[in-house]
Formats: sequence, structure tokens, C-alpha cells
Amino acid sequence: MDQIMKLCILITFLTTINFINGQIPQRFTAQNPCTAKGTCHECIQTPSCAWCYDPLFNASARCFQPSFPLSSKDEQCKEEFVHNPDNIMSLLSNLELSKAQQANTDGGYHWGIGYEGSRNQTDSWEHRGSSSYGYGHGGDGQGQIVQVAPQRISLKLRARQSYSIYMGYTQAEDYPVDLYYLMDLSRSMLDDKEKLSSLGDQLTYTMQQVTSNFTLGFGSFVDKVVMPYVSTLPENLAHPCEQCAAPYGYKHMMTLSQNTPQFSRMVKQANVSGNLDAPEGGFDAIMQAVVCRNQIGWREKARRLLVFSTDASFHYAGDGKLGGIVKPNDGHCHLTGEGYYSQSSSQDYPSIEQINLAVKKNSINVIFAVTGNTIGVYEQLAKHIEGASVAKLEKDSSNIVELIKEQYEQISSSVEMKHNASSAVSIRFFTKCLNASGTMVNTNKCGNIKVGDIINFKIDIEVLQCPKESKDRFQTIQIYPVGINESLIIDLEMLCECECEKPGHKYYQENAPACHHKGTSICGKCYCNHGAFGRNCECTDDEVPKSPKTVGCVPPNSTTGIECSGRGTCFCGRCECDIRGPTESIYGDYCECDNFSCERHMGELCSGESHGTCDCGVCRCTPGWSGPNCACQQSDAGCYPPDVIGGEICSGHGKCVCGACVCADTQESRYSGKFCEKCPTCPGRCPEFKDCVQCQMYQTGPLKDPKDCSANCTNVPVPIPVDTVTVIEENNEDLCHYTDEDHCQFSFVYYYDFERTTHIRAQQERTCPPEIFVLGIVFGVIAAIVLIGMAILLLWKLLTTIHDRREFAKFEKERMMAKWDTGENPIYKQATSTFKNPTYAGKG
Ligand SMILES: *[C@@H]1O[C@H](CO)[C@@H](O)[C@H](O)[C@H]1NC(C)=O
Ligand SMILES: *[C@@H]1O[C@H](CO)[C@@H](O)[C@H](O)[C@H]1NC(C)=O
Ligand SMILES: *[C@@H]1O[C@H](CO)[C@@H](O)[C@H](O)[C@H]1NC(C)=O
Ligand SMILES: *[C@@H]1O[C@H](CO)[C@@H](O)[C@H](O)[C@H]1NC(C)=O
Ligand SMILES: *[C@@H]1O[C@H](CO)[C@@H](O)[C@H](O)[C@H]1NC(C)=O
Ligand SMILES: *[C@@H]1O[C@H](CO)[C@@H](O)[C@H](O)[C@H]1NC(C)=O
Ligand SMILES: *[C@@H]1O[C@H](CO)[C@@H](O)[C@H](O)[C@H]1NC(C)=O
Ligand SMILES: *[C@@H]1O[C@H](CO)[C@@H](O)[C@H](O)[C@H]1NC(C)=O
Ligand SMILES: *[C@@H]1O[C@H](CO)[C@@H](O)[C@H](O)[C@H]1NC(C)=O
Ligand SMILES: *[C@@H]1O[C@H](CO)[C@@H](O)[C@H](O)[C@H]1NC(C)=O
Repeated sequence: MDQIMKLCILITFLTTINFINGQIPQRFTAQNPCTAKGTCHECIQTPSCAWCYDPLFNASARCFQPSFPLSSKDEQCKEEFVHNPDNIMSLLSNLELSKAQQANTDGGYHWGIGYEGSRNQTDSWEHRGSSSYGYGHGGDGQGQIVQVAPQRISLKLRARQSYSIYMGYTQAEDYPVDLYYLMDLSRSMLDDKEKLSSLGDQLTYTMQQVTSNFTLGFGSFVDKVVMPYVSTLPENLAHPCEQCAAPYGYKHMMTLSQNTPQFSRMVKQANVSGNLDAPEGGFDAIMQAVVCRNQIGWREKARRLLVFSTDASFHYAGDGKLGGIVKPNDGHCHLTGEGYYSQSSSQDYPSIEQINLAVKKNSINVIFAVTGNTIGVYEQLAKHIEGASVAKLEKDSSNIVELIKEQYEQISSSVEMKHNASSAVSIRFFTKCLNASGTMVNTNKCGNIKVGDIINFKIDIEVLQCPKESKDRFQTIQIYPVGINESLIIDLEMLCECECEKPGHKYYQENAPACHHKGTSICGKCYCNHGAFGRNCECTDDEVPKSPKTVGCVPPNSTTGIECSGRGTCFCGRCECDIRGPTESIYGDYCECDNFSCERHMGELCSGESHGTCDCGVCRCTPGWSGPNCACQQSDAGCYPPDVIGGEICSGHGKCVCGACVCADTQESRYSGKFCEKCPTCPGRCPEFKDCVQCQMYQTGPLKDPKDCSANCTNVPVPIPVDTVTVIEENNEDLCHYTDEDHCQFSFVYYYDFERTTHIRAQQERTCPPEIFVLGIVFGVIAAIVLIGMAILLLWKLLTTIHDRREFAKFEKERMMAKWDTGENPIYKQATSTFKNPTYAGKG
């Protein structure tokens, strides 16, 4: 009990610390993100929040949710003091989209009407967030081609509120096309050049079918006139190869013009030149052709195509070092009066990204018309250049006309929207493309557009975060279709700050009367001078209550600075807590405590009043109960098995915790049940009963003596004899099975009845195996072994005899057949030899 009280005190203490640290528990702030915002700019940077700058406003939090008004008895902010800036959009320029000339009566003009959303800009904030308007009312775009509408809007946006604007794109009829043909004139392109000059008229004719307003220009390139790209021997410089002109970096030959016969002439006149290495200086040429707007003659409002035709790969940034050129490309125009690139030998080649930026900035579509051997590398290159495409050129450029027409159609029949917003602003495009019945999908691309089609884009703009620097809060965002010099410019202002926080504003007042002339009133909130404190600086040091650090009603170390935990009013450094209702109260120095937010058990606060009461977030339990929600009974009464007199707590197999058994788990046995009385895995009581059952039923076993039996089996119930023992599951019976010293088997079951008395049912007769004549078996076995042994011996004897006989017979036979036995051994010589001396005649 003592310990539990200590624990409770500790928990209370910890909870209080939490409050003091200003971590107001989630449940107070979860549904309302606004109340925690202490300043006006923090408040309006939170979506759906509004700030009240009424100096006389008395409620604790000035930042509130206008869409979820506080209950009626709470004080409301007066309408004229609410600072809740709206997202505001205004159209600055909205010229009408150009229409196709032929009558287009099949409903193509229904654009711009029937958008969801409302035009009422003063709706409450949830209904805001989208705008719609028809394109081009009252515009004077008659004389001029307009493919994007509107052209300029200004937008004021709150942070993290998505706002939708609508934008239309059309492919105008007869839109001017500028085509600049940039040709590799190294020697291998001689045949291409001749083909191109013969196809010039056809190209013009084909393109004039597409648009009547078509201009054509021509330029060529070789490579930097520096070793090792070009041989710089004087004779090679003049004539690098047969019929070759002097090499040059890039030469602009014909300004874009409608004088198309001149094109064929210029191409014919141009002379091929020679260089050394395989890659060419095409990047220098692209850069100049793109950035030299006036010299090339790119028109402001035209589809700009730059056809780049070559049969070799390219040099890029860094390659210049081979020729000793270290100055990086500056991306500016350097054309001489004759059209030569003047910095060819002094600036490095541009990088891919430089080309991409220049192309993007000048809305140019680059078409790489390259021969099959280099197409792979140009396909990779085109991926990194906005609006670029690649097409395969025949060896002699014979397919150039179809190629350009095809590429042009591909480019002009699709639209891709891009923007240049910084990462603080999210821009997403939604469109149905041409599928009027379809749904909006999140894409910035549409294909298969024909002249006169209008594509509507819904553009969701959201300020993700207010930038720290206030100058970054104004942005100009350009939304443009790739390859077209028309765009929607958005002048975006992020609504991240409050005017009343700046000195000089009417509601920025030093030594304001509302702050008892002892503080600065900023947006209605008092910031007290040194020595003064209190909500309206109404208190000074000498009025402070004795507690040393209770300045105001904000807990020290609070991070949010909310007075009285947002649930009370501060008067001179003391909180007066709000009054909730008859059954709930708020209290504590900072109103951090209440008696209604404690742990619950089965829906009841602290398991109901009889178990405990709630005090400052902690249940205080009545004697006999414990636990965080007072659901824990302290008495052990509920742990004794009923009907067992003198039984142990939890049948001796567990502990009593909170008035209920927690059964012990060991490796061998696992107890369960309300009183840990069940144990499916236990060895059971079979061994305990075995001897008594044996002596009582069969008069066998260690207690076979009736005296021992009656003496030692008093605790064991007398078994009930049955014919066969069967286990009855619902009684929770345990089956025991044994074999006794006579090799007889017997079984019995034991079980407990409701009173936990044990009952035993035992088999009436043991099942004994039939008697076996052991001696007979032994003798039988011995006899069998002897017999078999003798049989084997006999067999062996027999076999050896037969063998011997056979051997002997063979010997005899051989002896008889042996010739040397009777005759003379051929190698035998008698020990004595008789020699006749022929000269000796019978004398001796
Ligand atoms: C705020 O309280 C003061 C004094 O209690 C009272 O005079 C004033 O009218 C109240 N302000 C508002 C806006 O209710
Ligand atoms: C805009 O809404 C306000 C209030 O909701 C209403 O008084 C006003 O008439 C509306 N204006 C338009 C143009 O619908
Ligand atoms: C090409 O070479 C011929 C003769 O070699 C010359 O007359 C002509 O002016 C050259 N063309 C250009 C564009 O330099
Ligand atoms: C061609 O387009 C330009 C604008 O890019 C325009 O000024 C000019 O009048 C047009 N010419 C014709 C013949 O339509
Ligand atoms: C795009 O058009 C605008 C005028 O509408 C012009 O000021 C600007 O220079 C053009 N940009 C390019 C790259 O031609
Ligand atoms: C986007 O482009 C416009 C027009 O080129 C430019 O004025 C603006 O600064 C660019 N915005 C950003 C964020 O780069
Ligand atoms: C238009 O969109 C609908 C629904 O998304 C789709 O079922 C239909 O096939 C689309 N039609 C065309 C022509 O893409
Ligand atoms: C407040 O914070 C300081 C430093 O973080 C710490 O030393 C002090 O004990 C804290 N006071 C309370 C009341 O938590
Ligand atoms: C909370 O406290 C108030 C006032 O002391 C009391 O009337 C109410 O019954 C208490 N509520 C609970 C749930 O204890
Ligand atoms: C039976 O009981 C007697 C006396 O109580 C004791 O001496 C004897 O050892 C017991 N026999 C067995 C087998 O437990």
C-alpha cells in the first residue's frame, strides 16, 4: 500500500513536469492546430487558422479556426478584427485563344464554361482554393496569334493551401514556323549537301502546306580551327582536301527568310571542308544558332525548329583542352559581320546543360537528323535537351523532307507544360487532354492535337512552406508549353506575414493603453516591458505571488507559451481555470490538471467511482484497488479455488496478481485455468496412485501385504472396478497405464469431481500374457544348437573324407601311371660307371 502511494505520487510528479514543460497532452490540441500558435504570422502560416487582433479580446488563444467556431459561451472575435487572409487571384492579361478559321461547329467552343468551383472570391476558406473563368473575355487578341490563355495572373496564396487555376492551350492555325538548317559540312557530307540543295524547293513546298508563314535559314559548321581537330599546316588550312574550302568553326550563311529559292542557292554555293578527327564542333554551332536571335532572325511568335544534320558525333565541354582551349563557353552570341563564330578558337565547346538551358530559354525545338551510325548517341543526347527529337537520316539526306515534316507534325501535335517554380512551390498539372468525357489525370502532356483543338489544364499551386527571407515570398512563375514562346506568368505572393507585426502599423503600438502602458501591443497581443507581466501587462514585480518563477501563467520552460494551458485566464500571474461542467473540473497552478482525463477501464474513468477517482491525469484508487486504472484488486481472496478447504493460492501453481491467478510456467508443466488447476502437460498423479490401485485391486505390487495396503492408501480413494477403462473427456480424466511385476497390464483413470475429491476407476482384471515355458525354450535352443553343430561336424567329416578318398584315388592312379617308376629316370645316373678300355683285353 505504502509503495503504491509512492508510485502514485511519482506518476503525478512526472505528469506535472510534463505540463510544466509545456507539452500539453495531445488530446487538447489534436483537433485544433491553431490554438498552439502564439504569433500572428505563425497563425496564418497554418492552413485554416485566423488571428484575432482585437486588443480587448479576452479568450486565451488568439489563433482560432473560423470554420469551427467555439461553443457559444466562448468569446467570439469581432468580425472586423479577424485577420484571415484569403487566396486572391486576379487576371492581369487574358487574351482570347486564337480560333481555327474554318467553322468549327461541333462544340469545340464550349471551353471556358461549366467549370466546377465558384467565382465568389470571398467564400470561406474550404470553398476557396479554386477559381475558374472563361478564357479571353474582352481580350483584344484579334490581330495576334494566342495559343496560351490567360497570359498573366497575380496570385496571393496562403501556405499549404492548394489553389487551382485553369489554363487553355490551342494549336493555332497557320502558326508561323521558323526552320534553321544547321549542316555539318565536313567532307563526308558532300553528297548530302548536293541532295539538300536539290531538295530545297520541295522542302519549302512541303512546309508551306503546313503553314503559309514559313521561313527558312541555313548555317554550317566544321570544327574549331585548332590542332588536333583540324590540320593547321598552311597548305591544309587553305585546302584541307580536294575541292575543299578552308575550315571554319561555324558559319551562319542565310538568315531566316521567306525567300526560299535562295536556300537552294546558298546550300549549293557552300563548300565542304575537311578536318582531322571524327567528332565535329556541332555544339558551338547549336549554341550560336540558338542564342544569336537577331542574326539568325528567329521570330518572337513562331514555332522554331533547328534541324541539325550530321553523320558524326560531337565535341562537348572539356574537349577544348585538347587544343589548349580552357576558357569555358559563355553562352553568348559571337558572330562576326560575315557570320563566322569569332570565339571558335578561344572558347571551349558548350556543355549539354548549357545547350539545354539556351534551348529552353529560347523555346527552340532541336531536331537531330543523323545517320544510322551515330543515332544512338544522339538519342541519349536528346533526352537531356528539352523539346529535342532524333530522326534517322539516309546516307545522302534523300529523306530530309519527309523527316522534317514528320518531326514537325510530331512536335506540333503534342503539348507538354513546364514551369520554373522553385521547390517551395508545388505545381501539378491535371488535364483530360482531348477526352471530354474522361477524367482529369495528373499529367502535363497531351498528344494527337490537331489545329483548333483546345486543351484545358487545371493547375494546382501550393506554397509548401513559407520561405524564411521575406524577399523570397514574391515569385514570378512561368508556365509554358515546351517549344513555344508563349506562357502564363504568375506573379505569386505568399501570404506569410501579418502587417500588424511591423512597426508603424495601427495595431503595432508601444506602451499601449491595452497593455497598461507597460508593453507593446502587437497584433492585439501584449509584449510586456521589463518588470511587467501578465496577459495585459497588468502586473508588476511587486505583485508577484511568492512562488519565485511563476511569472505570468505560463509554465517555465514552456515551448508554446500558452497561458494557463489554454484552459484558463491569467490574472496577475495566477490562473483562473475554466469551469467545465457539473462533473468535470480543471485546476492546478497552470490549469494543467483536470479530473476527467484519466485511464479508463471498460469505459469507466478509473474503473468507476468505487475503485478510484481521477486526479490530474492519474487515478487515485480506493483501498483494496490498485493499478493505473484502479482495476486491480489487491486482496487474494479471488485466487483460492472454491470448495477446496485449506487449498493453496492458485492451487500452488501460480501467483495472485490483481486478484486473479497468474499461473506459473515451467519447462515441464504449464498450468492454466482460473485457479491454475489444469495442467495438460503435467506428468500427472499416476505414479502416486499406482501402488494403491495395484494392492487394492489385484493384491500385487510393493504394498501387496493387506496391512501395508490399508496403512499406506488412506488418502487414495477406493477404485471403482470396471471391465474396461475408458476416458470420459468432460470429467477431465487422466488415464494411467502400467505393467506390473507379473508382466500383466492394467489401467485406471482418475478425475476430480466438483468438490475436488478424487475418484478412480480401475480395470477389474489385469490383462496378463499367456505363461511361457522358459526352460523348454532354453533347452530347445541348446538342443537345436547342439544338433546343428553336430550336423555341421558330420557334414564336414563327410566332405573331408570324400575329399581324402578322392585325393588318394588320384594319387594311386597317378602312381600307377607313372613311367619313371619302372624305367629309368632320364636324369638318373648310377653312382658307378664302367668304362671299357679298348686296349685292355680280358686280363683281370
Ligand atoms: C474583456 O474583459 C474585460 C474585463 O473583464 C472587459 O471589460 C472587456 O469588455 C472584455 N472584452 C471583450 C471583447 O469582451
Ligand atoms: C459571394 O458570397 C457572399 C457571401 O457568401 C455573397 O454575399 C455575395 O453575393 C457572393 N458574390 C457573388 C458574386 O456570388
Ligand atoms: C566555294 O568555292 C568556290 C570556288 O572554290 C568559290 O567561288 C565560292 O565562293 C565558295 N563558296 C563559299 C560560300 O565560300
Ligand atoms: C507571319 O507571322 C508574323 C509573326 O510571327 C507576322 O508578323 C506576319 O504578319 C505573318 N505573315 C503572314 C504572311 O501571315
Ligand atoms: C518571347 O516573346 C516575348 C514577347 O511576347 C519576347 O519579349 C521574348 O523576347 C520572346 N522570347 C524569345 C526567346 O524569343
Ligand atoms: C521563371 O521565369 C520567369 C520568366 O522567364 C522569370 O521572370 C522568373 O524569375 C523565373 N522564376 C524562377 C523561380 O526562376
Ligand atoms: C475517355 O475517358 C474515358 C474514361 O476515362 C475512357 O473510358 C474512354 O475510353 C476515353 N476515350 C478516349 C477516346 O480516350
Ligand atoms: C528548465 O530548463 C532548464 C534547462 O533546460 C533546466 O535546467 C530547468 O531545470 C528546467 N526547469 C524546470 C522547472 O523544468
Ligand atoms: C470533478 O470535480 C468536480 C468538482 O470537484 C466534481 O463535482 C466532479 O464530480 C468530479 N468528477 C469526477 C469524474 O471525479
Ligand atoms: C507403508 O507404510 C508403512 C507404515 O506407515 C511404512 O513403514 C512403509 O514403508 C510404507 N510402504 C511403502 C511402500 O511406502
